[in-house]
Amino acid sequence: MPGAKIRVLVAEEVRYFLGHVDVPADVEIEWLSASAPIPEGDYKGILPLLSRRIDDAVLDRLPQLAVVANYAVGYDNIDLEATRGRGVAVSNTPDVLTEATADLTWSLILAVSRRIVEAERLARQGEWAWGPTLLLGTQLSGRTLGLLGAGRIGQAVGWRAIPFGMEVAYWDRVAQPDFEREIGARRVASLAEIVALADVLSIHLQLSDETTRLIGRDELAAMKESAILINTARGGIVDEDALCEALDSGKLGGAGLDVYDGEPRIRECLKRLSNVVLLPHIGSATEDTRRRMFELAWGNLMLGVRGEPLLTPVG
Ligand code: DGY
Repeated sequence: MPGAKIRVLVAEEVRYFLGHVDVPADVEIEWLSASAPIPEGDYKGILPLLSRRIDDAVLDRLPQLAVVANYAVGYDNIDLEATRGRGVAVSNTPDVLTEATADLTWSLILAVSRRIVEAERLARQGEWAWGPTLLLGTQLSGRTLGLLGAGRIGQAVGWRAIPFGMEVAYWDRVAQPDFEREIGARRVASLAEIVALADVLSIHLQLSDETTRLIGRDELAAMKESAILINTARGGIVDEDALCEALDSGKLGGAGLDVYDGEPRIRECLKRLSNVVLLPHIGSATEDTRRRMFELAWGNLMLGVRGEPLLTPVG
């Protein structure tokens, strides 16, 4: 139909950033809040949050869909077999959130190793005095940071370990020779090896069938006494019931979590533990990063609705 607009569905929650992009005259946005069901219609593109599952049931409602421009680097919310089967292009938001996520990962490493949350609570309560054994934490220098995954974010976390005097080891399908040369990182051959080696084990993998519950009871049992587990990737990579037990029994020294299996729900057992720092999935939550994620996702959306190659395709 001449003059018909290209209709796109965009997560209402990113409207805040709309002023940073151009909206072509032939594009019509329909805002969709995270809790609203997907409407049926002739939409050409969708820009969803990571909490929106895109699967056959959704795609059935959007028969004209050409592109899913995910507002996240992770895309485990998207059934890639379903999108592929229908010729729907998919993109994510790599690179722009690497530094913010690495910073947040280190916030957790420091918060757990130096018991910052417990200490802050005690300071506010007012009933404390300086003491040689008050809130003793874990020294990082001389210890080993184990990276589960050494992609962009894993490497950025590894770089930050150097000024703290830590050794860096990583486990990844892909060798990263530049990373090894630049910071002296050591690649280990197996999951068992990295788990046993790390004083701080930090997860930087995509959630997939292969990585679901990758860190289970056996892996936690194989970790060093008093080691720290950090997860800023996806909750489903860790068996959180087993994690609760490992923390509760004192086997692990602590955990810093920004992501949860089944979030936003957080297991009560995790909330009860004082050696765990819990954050509400804010890894990429800086003003700059969230704006750049929107600019990138929007760029992908605008290309995808016109059938052009995406900037950062996945799948
Ligand atoms: C992502 O992008 O996948 C993060 O989890 C949120 O920014």
